[in-house]
Amino acid sequence: MKLNEKQIIENWSDLIKRIEHQFSGERQEKLLEMYNHFADRMMFAPASSREHYHNCFPGGYVDHVLRVMDCAFDLYNSWMMQGAHTDNYSVEELMFAALNHDLGKVGDLDNDTYVPNESEWHRKNQGALYTVNPKTEFGLVPDRSLFLLQHFGIKYSWNEFLGIRIHDGMYEEANKPYLVSFNPDSRLRSNLPLILHQADMMASRVEWERWKYGENGLQNVRTLTDVPKDKMMKHVAVKPTTSSKPTPEKKPSAASQLNSGADTSKLFDELFK
Ligand SMILES: [Fe+2]
Repeated sequence: MKLNEKQIIENWSDLIKRIEHQFSGERQEKLLEMYNHFADRMMFAPASSREHYHNCFPGGYVDHVLRVMDCAFDLYNSWMMQGAHTDNYSVEELMFAALNHDLGKVGDLDNDTYVPNESEWHRKNQGALYTVNPKTEFGLVPDRSLFLLQHFGIKYSWNEFLGIRIHDGMYEEANKPYLVSFNPDSRLRSNLPLILHQADMMASRVEWERWKYGENGLQNVRTLTDVPKDKMMKHVAVKPTTSSKPTPEKKPSAASQLNSGADTSKLFDELFK
């Protein structure tokens, strides 16, 4: 799986458009300042260092972030349709956390986190196409993400902080006190961190599958409408109806419209009006 130059540029422009339409005022200005500062590095950054992880190719980082945002939109709708509480966090907070959750993967202020691996043996035998740059000081990705946001003076809410901080869920030992609680008062107050974790897992898994099975094995979620219908149906799972409860009619989500290539600016305007 690789992205060509055109796709890399389109993804970058999609990312910037989302920032322009989804955030406003000083926060939007500062986000744009930070993203423009990192543009040259971020646009070509991979999402991981090994090809069997996920999106380990130039442009993989931005592609991953866009997919996590799309998945988070869809999952938000799913949670809401199941009756989950959505009043104590906003879609903007969810999107802010999704947009910035992996910022630390890009690196610190001066250096990339991942640099091309010069060892042919490691590239060939371990799929280690990139290696961690020894110039960057060790830091957990979420911690570095939060550090970069504060460096650029970008304020975030507690919901956004927590979503970014624990987006790796139980894969990160340090998240356990937030996620395993025997005290009712210390349980998570909103579902945002859980939705973001699910979205990250979903996006990473899809990206891994695309590497594993190739482009023909799976659909690109953002180009689903380009696929001939008969071919598409083979891949779309139909949920079995085992319950007598009528299934609520699902309107196409903003995310699915987004995936269909609809005008993103209109969608964001609708969501945030
Ligand atoms: Fe991620």
